[in-house]
Amino acid sequence: MRHLMSPLDLSVDELNTLLDLASDIEKHPDKYAHVCDDKRLATLFYEPSTRTRLSFEAAMMNLGGKVLGFSSADSSSATKGESVADTIRVVSCYADICAMRHPKEGAPLVASMASSIPVINAGDGGHQHPTQTLTDLLTIRSLKGRLDNLTIGLCGDLKFGRTVHSLIEALVRYTNVKFVLISPEELRIPSYIREDVLKKNNIEFQEVERLEDALPDLDILYMTRVQKERFFNEEDYVRMKDFYILDKQKMELAKEDMYILHPLPRVNEIATEVDADPRAAYFKQAQYGVYVRMALILTLLEVKLPC
Ligand code: NCD
Repeated sequence: MRHLMSPLDLSVDELNTLLDLASDIEKHPDKYAHVCDDKRLATLFYEPSTRTRLSFEAAMMNLGGKVLGFSSADSSSATKGESVADTIRVVSCYADICAMRHPKEGAPLVASMASSIPVINAGDGGHQHPTQTLTDLLTIRSLKGRLDNLTIGLCGDLKFGRTVHSLIEALVRYTNVKFVLISPEELRIPSYIREDVLKKNNIEFQEVERLEDALPDLDILYMTRVQKERFFNEEDYVRMKDFYILDKQKMELAKEDMYILHPLPRVNEIATEVDADPRAAYFKQAQYGVYVRMALILTLLEVKLPC
């Protein structure tokens, strides 16, 4: 039985096969409409979510399966003191696969060790968010036609933004991917990513503060929100929250074929006037999230695929 805790749980070959499957699902959704007719997905969300939970649920429904779960810790037995290990033992009796989001880093991993069904990490604190990474990779590959030879700018809260951590870990395995890490001093990438992922793999990267300086060189700009819920005090958040605002004027500095991605939710970091720019890909990205989660469910459940 396989779980998904980090993008590194899939080899590059497995990842490419999964993205191929997601693209086939996009082209031929009808072919997959009943492959999970007898399956159930549990979504155990101890932290707020819109896209991740709903796209998991939509993914399972598109495959013909059923969904059950909870969308906040308050409505689960966590409030009574139940451990995630006990919860997953019980959920294993009700469902075939589970997606778990938790504010504590490592909670889905603890659950996976007690589980008799595949567990998918749907975001654990400020640590990892592997299914957002699968979404991001499918989006980049679909729009740019490749995952190698790219200069990728990651902008905003690189310290607490778990989607950024997972995406870097996944992309360093492709050839000639360069990173421009754009953040205020206080929200720089954690040192384990800088040392153990970037430097260790001899990846070319720069850390800069000004978005304007980085924009002209980028093939992809990955914007992120300042992660309010991970700050220790409100004042620091208020000081940081509008540090970057991508607007029409700044977009004039970008290449014609640079795409803007954002895991969403957006707060102020992308002005709504940018939404009409053909390079704005963040809503399309949310749609790709459904295809890739369908592909992931099929892969982890080892469902026999239609020809
Ligand atoms: C992200 C998350 O939860 O980490 N959202 C998402 O899943 N699409 C990004 C964020 O909350 O800023």
